[in-house]
Amino acid sequence: MQQVVAPAAGPLEGTVRLPGDKSISHRYAMLAAAAEGVSKIGNYSSGADCHSTLRCVEALGARVEVADREVTIEGRGLEWAAPAGDLDAGNSGSTIRMLSGLLAGQSFTSRLIGDESLSRRPMQRIMTPLAQMGAVLSARDGKFPPIEITGGALRPVDYAMPVASAQVKSCVLFAGLFAEGVTTVREPAPTRDHTEVALREFGAEVERFADGVSVHGRAKLRARELTVPGDLSSAAFFLVAAAIVEGSNLILQGVGLNPTRATLIDFLMGMGVEVKILDLAMRNGEPVGDLLVRGSKLKGGVIEGKWAAALIDEIPVLAALGACSEQGLLVKDAGELRVKETDRIETVAANLRNMGAEVETFDDGFRVAGGQRLRGAQVDSCGDHRIAMACAVAALRADAPVTIENAEAASVSFPEFWDTLAQVRG
Ligand code: S3P
Repeated sequence: MQQVVAPAAGPLEGTVRLPGDKSISHRYAMLAAAAEGVSKIGNYSSGADCHSTLRCVEALGARVEVADREVTIEGRGLEWAAPAGDLDAGNSGSTIRMLSGLLAGQSFTSRLIGDESLSRRPMQRIMTPLAQMGAVLSARDGKFPPIEITGGALRPVDYAMPVASAQVKSCVLFAGLFAEGVTTVREPAPTRDHTEVALREFGAEVERFADGVSVHGRAKLRARELTVPGDLSSAAFFLVAAAIVEGSNLILQGVGLNPTRATLIDFLMGMGVEVKILDLAMRNGEPVGDLLVRGSKLKGGVIEGKWAAALIDEIPVLAALGACSEQGLLVKDAGELRVKETDRIETVAANLRNMGAEVETFDDGFRVAGGQRLRGAQVDSCGDHRIAMACAVAALRADAPVTIENAEAASVSFPEFWDTLAQVRG
């Protein structure tokens, strides 16, 4: 599918409702399946990735009912049923990596597959710690999906992750639920902590310390009623859209503002974007609020070190912001971008260059020059949801319409994106 996005003819205005947070939806679904009793999850993500997770837990014996954005899951406790066939994670790295932790504790063998993009993404990062815990794993070429996991009795580990990854941290903590004793994960830079928060909500014992977290094994999880906050990473597209279109004024409702994610707000404010947080409240251990954002004069910025890990999903759209800022954007220490749904250093650079921007790439990042005049062009998401949406946002500042190929990819995390964009353009 193609989408043609015309330059903004006037300010963006209105109120935006976001899909439920993708990261939190995955975790709630997996933990509900591993809990005893019936959980109800409100505002579950409408994205295809989170529905891949639902299909997997259903294939593993959980009872799943979906009614619009409300999902009901009857869990099986920690003992799941052997699936009849392969478990399909689709495009979702979170599904394959986090679910692997729970499969490592089962007494059967399961095989996880994914689409073409997922089949190119590295899995050693989860295979190493799970093998240390006692699971038996194999993968294509030793590192890519499909991966096969034979679970069994697991022993606890104290694992220092070589890369800052919330998916790996979650995978090991989930496996730790099955081990006798305390499993610890240490991280080189802070990553999103939704797993820690959700584990506590479902009744597991979790301890945090400066550079890591521990979970007590043989936990009994209890079913819960929870509501997923709006997805801040989806909100990012509208925050940047409003920031780069003069005179814009948007309200984003019910957005998750967990401090491990809300670095985005600090970064935007540092770039000169006017963002206000209204009505902050706590829901199921997660802060939630409404955001007000206005078109602003933009300075420029640098993303490096621990900021790179904290902003990793937002970098594609921040590149568009950088091009429209005075001094541009420099991204370093973000080599992880190369192993996302696409190599996002290359896909961001290729698309912005097509639109006339000056972009320099490095092994671990890129530099987008500021003050760029973007032009109408044909660009390609390459099947990557965040690239499709970042291109649409950049197009608002182009001098002629931008045609985005493979625009349907947006539905991996934000199926309502195109309608929402049309709605705020009036
Ligand atoms: C996620 C963690 C990040 C992020 C992904 C979602 C999660 O991946 O990019 O979109 O929900 O834990 P990594 O763990 O690979 O950094």
